[in-house]
Formats: sequence, C-alpha cells, structure tokens
Amino acid sequence: MKPKCVVALALPDDIIERLATRYEVAAWNGSDAMSQQRLSDALAGAEGLLCALSTPVSATIIDQATELKVISTISVGVDHIAMPAATRRGIPVGHTPGVLVDSTADLAVALMLASTRRIAEADQWVRESQWNQGWQSDLLLGTDISQATVGLVGLGPIGEAVARRLRGFGCKLVGWNRTPRVIEDVEPMALDQVFEQADVVSLHTALTEETRHIASRGRLALMRTGATLINTGRGLLVDEHALIDELGSGRLRAGLDVFREEPLPPHHPFLAMRNVVLLPHVGSATLSTRSAMLQRALENLNAGMSDLPLAWCANPEVYHREP
Ligand code: DGY
Repeated sequence: MKPKCVVALALPDDIIERLATRYEVAAWNGSDAMSQQRLSDALAGAEGLLCALSTPVSATIIDQATELKVISTISVGVDHIAMPAATRRGIPVGHTPGVLVDSTADLAVALMLASTRRIAEADQWVRESQWNQGWQSDLLLGTDISQATVGLVGLGPIGEAVARRLRGFGCKLVGWNRTPRVIEDVEPMALDQVFEQADVVSLHTALTEETRHIASRGRLALMRTGATLINTGRGLLVDEHALIDELGSGRLRAGLDVFREEPLPPHHPFLAMRNVVLLPHVGSATLSTRSAMLQRALENLNAGMSDLPLAWCANPEVYHREP
C-alpha cells in the first residue's frame, strides 16, 4: 500500500500525477482555499502534507493528524503553520528559502516606484478617459526615489537584495535589523528612527510574535507627511486600521502586496483609496521562482515521506530531540 499524502492547494495535473506514482494522493482542486474541516478529514491516515499560505495548519489539525510525519509548504514564510505544535510532535516543516529573494526584492522596488510616481493611479486615470489635455505641468506629480531616504525594516536576504537594487538609484539607505547587521551603504538605525527619517519605509522581516504590528499606529505616526509604506512581507506586520486612518487622511501613501486578510474582502477601505497601490500577494510570482519553490517543496515532501532530513527545514531542532 502506498503512503498517503495530502495536497492542500490546486496544482497542475502533471505534478499530482507525478506524486501519485509514489503516494496515495488526496488533492484539493477547488478554486477557493481548502477549509479546515476538509483538511482535517483529508489528513486522516496521511503521512505528508503539501500546502501553501492560504491553508492555515493549526495546532488542532496537527494534533489530530496522528500519522503525519512531514509538512512541506510552498513558501518561505511558515506563519500559517502552528510551528510549536509541529515541533512538539517532531514533525519537520519544509519551506523554500533563498529562491524567492530576487523576485520579491524586484517587486518591492516596483511598488516603491509605482507609489512614489503614482503609476497605478495614472494608468487608471488614462483608462477612465480623463486625459483630455496634452502635457500639463502639474499633472500627477510624484516624488523622486533618487532624492529619497529609504528605510529598510529587516536586513535579511530580501532587505539586502532591495538595498543592492536601490544603490543604483542613488538614494540614501537606512535600516534596522533585530540582530544588528552591516550592509554596504545602509546606515544602521533604531527602529523608530527609521520610521521617523525615511521617505519610504519598506518591510522585510518575517512575521513572528515580536514583529506583529511592527508598523504600529505609533510608528506610522512618526512617518513624515507624504512618506510611503511598502509591504511585501506579511499583512500582520502592519496595524492595518492605523494605516487606513493615515491613508484616509491623505498623510501617507502605501504600496501593499500583503494584507491582514487575503484575499482582500470586498468593500475594504483600501479599495476606495487612490494613494495606495494594491497587489494580490505576488512577490514571488514569476515562472522561474514559482517553479523553484515547488521543486524545493516537493524535495522536502519526498525526503520527509522517506524519513530523511529535509534540505530546507524551518524547525531543524526536530532532528536534535531526545527520542
Ligand atoms: C512566501 O514564500 O512566504 C511568500 O510570501 C510567497 O510568495
């Protein structure tokens, strides 16, 4: 009998067929996220779970999945998985670090330019047939990234890759990291100071208990009038209610790829605001990056199903536990 694995997101048929040569596969192919009840039912008797961000894997689900021996997520972030519960059970959690650094850094810079040069707003304006005069001296004026101070919150691989790109624009770079890190041309600063001094603040930390609402109401209030917040990390890094207030008053601008609730609910206040550029969590969405992420996730899954150590493990401590 083949061991069972659950695939909790819709994937191309050829991937499912490949998995089915080795495993009994319970694959979700709905266009919406798999519900918690369905996931829990599907995991009965399963040894492996392949999942992604849209499927929370709670402690209850992990505890009920008594045969589970590997969780592999197609993401670098593991905040959707109850990590302490997985670790307690000795279940390794595979993730996909490294391969999405450049794509995500590109998108953060794209959002900075889109926000400071009002690109989405201008595109919409043209489509709405509002362009009924030729060149106008004061039309859709933005700000220059080359003259800006950009503050990087988090100087890990993605923050560093953003800094590398921005050096080419000639802007001043300041940054904060939880454990101090020296990055060429990035002036280290206290977190509050980054928010206070930057014209553009870009968030590049993982979501943890410590970083939840790192862009708090107080820190958003420290930002300069006219400054821009960029978030390609996780929605919960930002106090979204406070950001809505700041954007609603017109004091700040923002470029956001991630949200507290995804997909963004209909009638969300952001949808009516012109000073925020909205993207549907596409930081890693290039063909080559997504295929590299999937490749790593499949390797992790196969390793765990064969009781081998995972090449990219988010909780390596499971391998050093007393039996
Ligand atoms: C991740 O891998 O955590 C990203 O958010 C997915 O694009």
